Amino acid sequence: MSTILDKSQVVGEQKGAYVRNMFARIAPRYDLLNSLLSLRIHHYWREVAAKEAKLQQGDSALDVCTGTADLAIRLAKEVGTDGAVVGVDFCLPMLQLGYTKVRKSAHHRSTTLVLGDALALPFAANRFRAVTVAFGIRNVVDIRKAFAEMWRVLKPGGRVVCLEFSHPRREPFGSIYNLYFHHLLPFIGGLLSHQDAYTYLPTSVRYFPEREQLAQMMREVGFVEVTWRELTSGIVCIHSGVKP
Ligand SMILES: C[S@@+](CC[C@H](N)C(=O)[O-])C[C@H]1O[C@@H](n2cnc3c(N)ncnc32)[C@H](O)[C@@H]1O
Repeated sequence: MSTILDKSQVVGEQKGAYVRNMFARIAPRYDLLNSLLSLRIHHYWREVAAKEAKLQQGDSALDVCTGTADLAIRLAKEVGTDGAVVGVDFCLPMLQLGYTKVRKSAHHRSTTLVLGDALALPFAANRFRAVTVAFGIRNVVDIRKAFAEMWRVLKPGGRVVCLEFSHPRREPFGSIYNLYFHHLLPFIGGLLSHQDAYTYLPTSVRYFPEREQLAQMMREVGFVEVTWRELTSGIVCIHSGVKP
């Protein structure tokens, strides 16, 4: 598999297949690398995202691009034993690892994992009180379509929450972080997993819309009350919006 260096090289169907194959290859080391490369801060980011969904006990929630299901498991705590959480992803090896974690979790009865595409969610309209996506929207071929699908399956009044990498804007932190993210991270990723995947990561973030643009896309899809907050000096951003 060749390294992605330029957005124009991998688009459309080709990008979907590339992304699915890439996550299938890195799945066995995905959780380890997440913890190592983020110094375990990713747990805190997902914790904040789960709270941002503003779920109540008994609610139903969907986690799109759920991967190894960390956020789905966290959401299950929010909705309790009377609630229901579904995690959906199009990469079977990621879901299988997620399933092992779900089975061991305290809320395994209320959590279901489903194989499916974020661009054609296999759920009826108006079903979930909240829909989340963590580090997934950057990987989908059509961001607007993915948000439109999330909008469709949300109940009126329901909330979408999107956790994604961003660009730290404050200096000198931004420059130091860029050195780490664009050089050291692909190097460590290459040593412990597949280098092309950990070269793809900073490249995909570089081409990902700025936080204002992403908020605008969400509004265009129909979400209201769209806001975002930066975490860890803007390394990640959490966008949220409501389906009226
Ligand atoms: C970086 S991982 C994030 C996984 C998880 N949400 C997390 O926070 O660790 C991105 C996930 O998005 C999934 N993905 C990418 N495009 C997708 C699509 N169109 N439909 C479903 N899943 C998709 C990948 O298979 C992968 O598991």
